Amino acid sequence: MMKIIVAQNGQDMGRKAASIIAAQVVLKPDSVLGLATGSSPVTTYRQLVEWYKNGDLDFSRVTTINLDEYVGLGHDNDQSYFYFMRENLFKDININMDNVFLPNGLAADPDAECARYEALIAEKGPIDLQVLGIGVNGHIGFNEPDSTFECFTHVVELTQSTIDANARFFATADAVPKRAMSMGMQGIMQAKRIVMLASGEQKADALYKAFCGKIDPAVPASILRLHPDVTLVADAAALSKFD
Ligand code: F6R
Repeated sequence: MMKIIVAQNGQDMGRKAASIIAAQVVLKPDSVLGLATGSSPVTTYRQLVEWYKNGDLDFSRVTTINLDEYVGLGHDNDQSYFYFMRENLFKDININMDNVFLPNGLAADPDAECARYEALIAEKGPIDLQVLGIGVNGHIGFNEPDSTFECFTHVVELTQSTIDANARFFATADAVPKRAMSMGMQGIMQAKRIVMLASGEQKADALYKAFCGKIDPAVPASILRLHPDVTLVADAAALSKFD
């Protein structure tokens, strides 16, 4: 059964989600964390950094496996997800960068890179705690609405909705990469626990369809209804369509 934790605002969402991650790392110092990028987890990551700096957390034995990366963007491109993770979390905590994994956006053969990443998830996983955001179209990772659920890490053609939503981070919508690599549903669903973050009215529809509608690959997050341990940390605006 899904748990819902109501957050007062973005800072509060960050504190609440960070408490869940912190408890995971305290209980199991060599945890495998599945991580997401985007706006939703920023306050969570900054809270983890603060607790680390206070001496309350130790990431030295933690492994992280990110959900996705744009095809064509390298570590030093400020729009790459690697760059995002380094700036928002990794550079400020004592994680061993040898234990940090994202798909390589510059891989010459993206399909082969997806196969490598899938093998890595199998080797390092299952993920103990997976952090997720949700797209306005109901995507998780870059598992876009489709007629089937993709099981494994795969190359995705981003939908116009996702390109438009992500254009805010780029100079122009044309500069948004058109392809990404994303963990598939198997890697996500095998995670022992999942925490999803969502804030703002623009997520209300996606959350409602995901958790109150039927399980449907047209709303990729709806697959989470089959997962035994999902916690949703969301503000009132994002939850406004729930009964
Ligand atoms: C990013 C990811 C995406 C985002 C989603 C929400 O790694 O997996 O599914 O979680 O697009 O993005 P924000 O949080 O920016 O609204």
